[in-house]
Amino acid sequence: MSRLFTKDTQAIFWNNNKTAIQRMLDYDYTIGRETPSVAAIVAPTSNSKFEKFFYGSDEIMVPLYKSTTEAKAAQPQADVLLNFASFRTAYDVTMEALKIGGFKTIMITAEGIPERLARIMNQAARDAGVTVIGPATVGAIAPGAFKIANIGGTIDNIINSKLHRAGSCGLVTRSGGLFNELSNIISINADGIAEGVAIGGDRFVGSVFIDNLLRMESNPDVKYMVLLGEVGGTEEYKVIEAVKDGRIKKPIIAWCIGTIAKHFSSGVQFGHAGASANAERETAEAKNKAMAEAGIHVPASFNDLPGTIKEVYEELRANGTIGEIPEPELKPIPKTRRSKQFICTISDDRGEEATYAGFPISSVATPDTGKGIGDVVSLLWFKKQYPKWATEFIETVMKTVADHGPAVSGAHNAKVTARAGKSVVEALVTGLLTIGPRFGGAIDGAAKYFKYADDNNLTPAEFLAYMKKQGIPIPGIGHRIKSLKNPDKRVEGLKKFAAEHFPRTPLLDYALTVEQLTTSKKENLILNVDGTIGILMVDMWRALGYSEEEIDEFIESGTLNAFFIVGRSIGFIGHILDEKRLAMPMYRHPMDDILYDVQKAEEI
Ligand code: ACO
Ligand code: LMR
Repeated sequence: MSRLFTKDTQAIFWNNNKTAIQRMLDYDYTIGRETPSVAAIVAPTSNSKFEKFFYGSDEIMVPLYKSTTEAKAAQPQADVLLNFASFRTAYDVTMEALKIGGFKTIMITAEGIPERLARIMNQAARDAGVTVIGPATVGAIAPGAFKIANIGGTIDNIINSKLHRAGSCGLVTRSGGLFNELSNIISINADGIAEGVAIGGDRFVGSVFIDNLLRMESNPDVKYMVLLGEVGGTEEYKVIEAVKDGRIKKPIIAWCIGTIAKHFSSGVQFGHAGASANAERETAEAKNKAMAEAGIHVPASFNDLPGTIKEVYEELRANGTIGEIPEPELKPIPKTRRSKQFICTISDDRGEEATYAGFPISSVATPDTGKGIGDVVSLLWFKKQYPKWATEFIETVMKTVADHGPAVSGAHNAKVTARAGKSVVEALVTGLLTIGPRFGGAIDGAAKYFKYADDNNLTPAEFLAYMKKQGIPIPGIGHRIKSLKNPDKRVEGLKKFAAEHFPRTPLLDYALTVEQLTTSKKENLILNVDGTIGILMVDMWRALGYSEEEIDEFIESGTLNAFFIVGRSIGFIGHILDEKRLAMPMYRHPMDDILYDVQKAEEI
């Protein structure tokens, strides 16, 4: 891995840290990335499915997941984990990600992870070949490709520091603040940086100076390196070794800050946990001296660092190692942006012609298109183009349930309302309002419970016992007038369709074994039309490749009853128009059809 990040790198962001994520997306937009650098957010306590962010003046939806496992499964291409968990959870989040696998880089922002845990975590990552940036860091950047969260600061600062496109320097610091300072110095005295990492200020960080410098040595974009060390630790000596034994050949400019420490009594610790010298060779002075002796460019003081950078850079320009860097065109972030109130993912009326899930209406509406109402449903309800057998099944269902005579609950209600002088829509709504767990609306329930029983390998007897315990009649079983002796032809029709066109019908096969048991108790306890539809829809979705979670979601959101709602609306409207055509007077129920049992109310 010679480059830490590329323009295709995508990350999973652990924690819904909106400001930091927005900064990343603003950067992406400015530099003209094709895909947003954040592919997913892990937000364990959120019930939302996505978070909206600006991408230029537009908004995009970044999916939210409850766990890293889910996020990684849904976005396998995202190979960077930005671990923004607190110091209490950062260890667990990192260890879990290492277990899941598929991450090349993990950045840990938390400061103060217990040192014992940090060491275990860093070693586990090293063993797995994963680069850890941090803990206690603002991250890293590959200018013009990928930027972690807040590194580099605001967009204006980024452009001023030439962090919007790749330069020639590889920069490694401990501190994030000094990283920004250094990138600014490099932009003024040279042509910016190709890759930069703030490795973090804790005593035990994952990737150390040498890891990053060795990678930069093999990164062809990096022509020279700047290392900003700190008092404390001996990591700089590993760099000296690599320079001496030839593993690093590119020029290095280095400075170890903290030379002031010698003016204090021993053991003084600077801002970072790791910034404290425990031995003479850990002092900034000793390290600067050793680095200079090894041929590393060490300035006389921090104030001379810009001059040294300029000198090395100009020498590399002069000998042709570094060429001219073209300035890319940047896309400015609009000054004012307005968040959208509504989201629509199914249709669009902004163009010349409105579309259903990307298909112009004219491409599905007329008979010559070969598309039917089943295709329209598959586009607008499921945002997919279902195969013919599935769209024909949807149409078969809707046609099958369009009406069942005037006596059924809903039609009766619609007729009574129409006769009370109400409009088509009012009468239709009263009919629709009867659709529920007993009438026409048992489809979702049937799918839910039969699927549950089948998923849990319940025998029909166990399933019946389970439902009895729940205290609800089995949705999809039973009919007022249909029975074994008076079979429901609609059910037979749907079963025949499935036998001829479905690849498999495992849930229907199971439901029929349940029906055998229920009808042995009472012959009207057949698998009814609602049950058959719900169960076959699950078989259809499974055959179409939907996951169990997706199917459960369809069931939970009431998708299945919707087939009955649309189908039966045709019949209800028929009955309402019938009433209007016949100019029927207001209906009053015959009193002799009502059992009056009214007692005088007792005084309390
Ligand atoms: N599961 C278990 N037992 C049932 C079921 C059922 N789905 N349905 C009826 N029973 C039992 C009753 O508890 C009753 O038991 P009991 O005699 O021991 O007291 C017995 O069977 C007789 O019930 P009935 O009163 O004859 O059934 P009824 O005709 O009143 O009910 C109904 C018909 C409402 C459809 C009922 O079977 C039911 O609630 N089914 C589940 C809901 C359903 O699937 N509805 C959609 C029907 S199709 C459509 O509307 C398009
Ligand atoms: C229907 O489709 O409306 C019927 O199955 C219900 C009924 O009561 O006949």
